[in-house]
Amino acid sequence: EEQENLEQSLAGKRVLITAGPTKEKIDPVRFFTNHSTGKMGYALAKQAVSLGAYVTLISGPVNLDTPKGVQRINVESADEMYHQVLEHYVNQDIVIKTAAVADYRPKTSYSTKMKKEPGDLKIEMERTKDILQALGERKTSQFLVGFAAETTNPLEYAKDKLEKKNLDAIVVNNISEEGAGFGGDTNIVTYMNGKGDQINYPLQSKEEVAKHILQHVANELKDE
Ligand code: CTP
Ligand code: CA
Repeated sequence: EEQENLEQSLAGKRVLITAGPTKEKIDPVRFFTNHSTGKMGYALAKQAVSLGAYVTLISGPVNLDTPKGVQRINVESADEMYHQVLEHYVNQDIVIKTAAVADYRPKTSYSTKMKKEPGDLKIEMERTKDILQALGERKTSQFLVGFAAETTNPLEYAKDKLEKKNLDAIVVNNISEEGAGFGGDTNIVTYMNGKGDQINYPLQSKEEVAKHILQHVANELKDE
């Protein structure tokens, strides 16, 4: 098999990956979510296993099969993801946060279906916790990788997030470019680390992107 020929550059490492969107309930039949399909995170999980890692995948609701050898934990809301990620954080070597976590959720979530009324409806939203920020604050020896999807000034915004969230690296995609971002099988990304390295990857499959990112991270761990 092809995977047996790959270098086991993450042999024995523990890798935690989050993937997919979150779903924030309004009532039993309605919710807020986003366009994330989970493909990038699942590609990373699959690749990490083939490089020899123990992989935990904390996943929002997606339509993808669990890659072989991956321990998958399903969550729905940002709050559930927060709790699962923090619970599994301590003994990880690498954490990669591809999940598209909701920044806001409805302030009230109703246990019975809302009925329509005359006139407009206002739904008050409140902020969710920033999971990656929490990980950055609690970082011991984990190599922490964020993802950022931007439509304007991708590199500046990504650099801000890298610093503010105490990350070791961030992968940024400019989702307004053809072939990048949500849903598709390809991506165009820039890998940026805390040392100021910036590597651009032209249009390629998400599998390919996953391979490159993990190679990078493995090299950075080796150099430490
Ligand atoms: N993230 C997170 N928890 C949140 C929001 C975001 O862990 N509540 C993580 C994402 O998983 C991603 C990174 O933070 O790895 C960047 O997400 P992004 O939405 O690009 O950045 P935000 O900090 O939320 O800023 P904004 O949406 O305003 O650009
Ligand atoms: Ca956000």
